[in-house]
Order: sequence, then C-alpha cells, then structure tokens
Amino acid sequence: MSDDVTGPRAQLPLVVVGHVDHGKSTLIGRLLFETDSLPDGKVEALRVQSETRGADFEWAFVLDALQAERDQGITIDTTRIWFKGERRDYVIIDAPGHKEFLKNMVTGAASADAAVLVVDGAEGVSEQTRRHAYLLGLLGIGQVVVTVNKMDLVGFDADRFRQVADEVRDYLSGVGIVPSQIIPVSARDGDGLAENSSRMPWWTGPTLVTALESLEQRAPLTDGALRLPVQDVYRQDDKRILVGRVEAGHIRVGDEIKFSPGGQAARVATFENWNGPQQFSAAAGQSIAITLDDDIFVERGSMAFAPDTAPYETNVVRAKLFWLDHAPLRPGDQFTLKIATAEHLVSVEAVEHVIDTQDLEQVDGECVERNGVAEVVLRSRSRMACDRFGDMAPTGRAVLFRDHRPVGGCIIQGPVAEQDARNLTAVDHAVLNTERIIANGHRGGVLWLTGLSGSGKSTLAMALERYMFDRGRQVYVLDGDNVRQGLNRDLGFGPEDRTENIRRIAEVAALFADAGFIVITAFISPYREDRARARDAIGEGFHEIYVHAGLETCEQRDPKGLYVKARQGEIPEFTGISAPYEAPTAPGLLVDTDAVSIAEGTRQL
Ligand code: ADX
Repeated sequence: MSDDVTGPRAQLPLVVVGHVDHGKSTLIGRLLFETDSLPDGKVEALRVQSETRGADFEWAFVLDALQAERDQGITIDTTRIWFKGERRDYVIIDAPGHKEFLKNMVTGAASADAAVLVVDGAEGVSEQTRRHAYLLGLLGIGQVVVTVNKMDLVGFDADRFRQVADEVRDYLSGVGIVPSQIIPVSARDGDGLAENSSRMPWWTGPTLVTALESLEQRAPLTDGALRLPVQDVYRQDDKRILVGRVEAGHIRVGDEIKFSPGGQAARVATFENWNGPQQFSAAAGQSIAITLDDDIFVERGSMAFAPDTAPYETNVVRAKLFWLDHAPLRPGDQFTLKIATAEHLVSVEAVEHVIDTQDLEQVDGECVERNGVAEVVLRSRSRMACDRFGDMAPTGRAVLFRDHRPVGGCIIQGPVAEQDARNLTAVDHAVLNTERIIANGHRGGVLWLTGLSGSGKSTLAMALERYMFDRGRQVYVLDGDNVRQGLNRDLGFGPEDRTENIRRIAEVAALFADAGFIVITAFISPYREDRARARDAIGEGFHEIYVHAGLETCEQRDPKGLYVKARQGEIPEFTGISAPYEAPTAPGLLVDTDAVSIAEGTRQL
C-alpha cells in the first residue's frame, strides 16, 4: 500500500501555442528545467552533445530529445511531457502546428484546460498568433496565459511590452477571450518563467509558473450527464455485450439508460469484467463492457444516456468547421461525419459565414479554403445524437472524413430546428405595411444600443423614448434589466445564454418593428456575432449604435453597484471585468457618453 494519503496529484492539461519562430519549444525546454522536471544530467548531456557537434546548445533541444525518446518508447510515460508546480502538475500537450493542434483537439486525442500563447516581443502579433488565438476561442479554451517572449531582444523595455500586450489583448477580446495574464519573459534566459527577473524590475506581475498555478481546473466530466457511445456489440452465447468508453458521467448496475438515436430504454444488468474484481459501476474515462436486462436493438454508434439528460437527436446541425483539405469545401459537398463512435453521411446544406482568422471579419462567398474557418449547416440522412460542444465536448465535436482521410473538424453549435421550415407557410396579414406607415406617420425600425454596463444605454434609451413619444411616435424600449425579469428570466450571463438573450430580443424587436414601432433596445450585447445575427433577423430597419464610455468611467458611475461586486469576485463573468466586450467595428452611430451629456446624446440619436 502506498503511503501517499493525498492521492495522485492533480494534473492540468495545457497546450502551448504560438508562431513557430516565437520560441515555443525554447519556452517549454527552459520551463522544464526551471521547475526541476528534467531527469538529472539531461541538460548537461545535451550540452556536451551539441558541443561535439560544434553547435550551440539550445533549450529547444530538450524538447526534441524528449520527443525522440518518446517516439522510440524510451521514456516510461510515452505520451506526455509534464512539469511540476507547487499546487499540481502540468501536462503539456505539444502542438507542433495549428493543424495538428486542431486535429488533436477536435478528435479529442488531446484536450486542454488552458493555453499558453507565446508571442515574440520583437515581432509582435503575427498571422499565426492570430490563427492560434482564434482557434483557442473557437475550441472554448478560455483560460489563456500570454507570454511576451524574447524581451532580451527589445532591451527588456516596459513600453514595448505594453504595446505588444495591448495588441494581443485586443485581438483576444475579439475572439471572446480575456487573458488570465500577459507576462514578459525571456524564455531562453529563463527570465519571468519560474522566478522574477532582475532585468525587468518594472514588472510587478506574476511569473509564468505563478500565473499557471492560479488557473482553474476544469470540472471532471464525471460530474456531467452520462454519455456512453457504443463502440461495439458482441454476442457471447446468448448474451449481448455492449462495449464502449464512458465519455461523461457515471453508470451503475440497475441504472435505467436510453439510447440515441431511437430512444429505446433498458437497465444495466451486469458489468462484464473478464479479469479483475466484479464491477458495479464506472465513470468518465473508463472503458466498459455491459449487458442489459432487455434485448433492445443497439449497434455501434448508438449513444447511451440517462433518461433525463438526453443529447440532441437531429438530422441537421449547425457547426463551426475548420477545413484542412487542399480542395476547398463548397455547399453540396458530401463526406462522413464522425461523432464519437457514430458515422453519418452528411452534405453541406449551407455555408453561412466564412471567417477570416486574420481580422475576424466575415468573408464574402461560400467557399472554404484550406485552413479556413466557417459556420456551416450539415444535413444527414440518419439521425445524429450529439451535444453542443460548449455543454459536452466529447460528443459535441466531430471529424470530417473523405475517403477515410480526415479533411476537417467541427464544433457542434446545436441542432437546426426541424419543425421544418418546409412545413410552415407564412400567413399574410390583413393590414398592409404601408397602411401602418401611413397611420403612424413613420416606418418601424430598431435602434440597437450596445455598450458596457453603465455606459448609459438605458438612460439614453428612456430619454429618447420620452422625446419621440412626445412627438407622436410609436416607440418602445426593450431593456436588458427589464426583459431579463420576464421573457428571459431563464437566462444567465454565460456566453451561450447571452447569445440566446440577444437572439430572442432580436426576434421580439423584429416583430415590434413589423408592427410599425420604433424599438430602442438597450442590451450590452457583447458579442459581435450575436449583433450580426440580430441585424440579419431584423433586416434593413436595424441600426447599430455604440454607446461608448471607458471602463473606468463605467466603473466610477457604477449605477447598480455591480462593478464593485464584480471586482470582489461576487459576480462571475461580468462584462468588462471577467467577460469580454467586442466593440462594434462600424456602428451606424457612436455616442460617446464620456464626452457628451444625456441631452446631447439624445439629440445625436
Ligand atoms: S447581455 O450581455 O446579455 O446583453 P443584458 O444587457 O441583457 O446583458 O443585461 C445586462 C444587465 O444585467 C447589466 O446592466 C447588469 O445590470 C446586469 N448584470 C448582472 N450580471 C451581469 C454580468 N455578469 N455581466 C453583465 N451584466 C450583468
């Protein structure tokens, strides 16, 4: 028996990404050294080796050497490079390039709780930095520590650091990431990795290691709803044995489980454990073999779940897709979509947006080039059991195959409602739009106010409502704090809830506008993409208005005392503090409440 009463040390899976030349491998090599995580004499041996070869020693060699050993199966732990922290260990999921990283993340070969993004302090943010950052955002890796590396090349200059830090922060905020820390380091010399650097006395923030120690461990999937994709079904005498890996949740003898697609139910009769003690339960991460109490039809690709937490079962999904194949992807293309153990023949029903990872703008056209990202709608003839990636990663991601070759990966955003647009017909109103316009003396439309909490959206909206009403306009304000107490009372402030909040408001505003009203909406609406969808839903009557005030001003005003609470950590995911705000890039109007009064702002509107 082991003396270790504390149990195994916690491990945080970490991915290190960044431009190839920005010093990723150097950083990893040096970090292993600084944290005493290398075998004794390793560095010395490598130094001697390089000397005999007449080359200068480089920290990247450490990683190369570990990788070579790993490939030859010399090291005992064959898949992982790890280093020790005080609080826990860190497993580095190596990402040689973004393509591999992507493939590994999307296939589930690797899954990271956090990322270290390495940026060259001399060169600043590069295209590859942007691409990697974008992918982190897409994959929902929200915890990112940025290292501004090679500070030695810029003379350890504080101003240069701040400049690069601002550049990274801006871009990350555009992809929905608030970096946990941005830290100046010189990986080659070890400055700022595990110890504070005497060469950067101006830096009072944490080292890379301390920053990593304060990251949060993702809740283990054992806490979640059961997901057991069936890998195979064997027949043994008259028993049918289901084999698979529990991807999430847990399962016990006697549990009622259901299978998707289809919905057949049965109870777990036995665990078939060939060699080892009799087993009665299992949890996420374990591969199991079970029998059921009823002879229902289950095959490879079926997914078991607990009755009250079903996955989606649908023929059509919307997904964010990364395309890896040389031949571009086009609407109508067909391939095999693999979700966990299930394979579906799907076709691309629509390419809704193609996104340029450089500037995050939507690109025109429906063709997705190699390494491109797009939002697509995929249709399958068979029913697909799946989850939203944000809710359940293992069954919320999928790999696309063509001729047995992986050609892309995707993150499932959700099913596309199939109460089939085909079976719905719009009913014509008996009152014409023009009649409403004549009766009201104006058209309907939407003034969409967006901005931080405390920027003055509600105040401006209400003042404008009064002003217009007094002048005979049909006008109504939809305000976040109000609507969230009724229609949207079931929604919180996580990214998905905010998206749903804005989706509903956009639909309601569109109805109001159709009824001839001038609608003023006052919602933070922090995500650019959500506002773009609102624009799509509302059409030409949509006007985006950026109500701007600096974070400092908003915090000073703090009309509801929420910033104080957010700073004290009492409100998680508070916009501007711990959740992102993506400012409009080209608003119809910008009202700067830092500079103008309510009266002036109202006049501008
Ligand atoms: S949105 O992000 O989904 O558009 P919305 O405008 O509806 O937000 O609601 C914002 C209001 O909710 C804020 O004015 C504030 O009063 C309150 N609130 C409560 N918690 C939060 C939070 N975590 N982030 C932002 N606002 C919050």
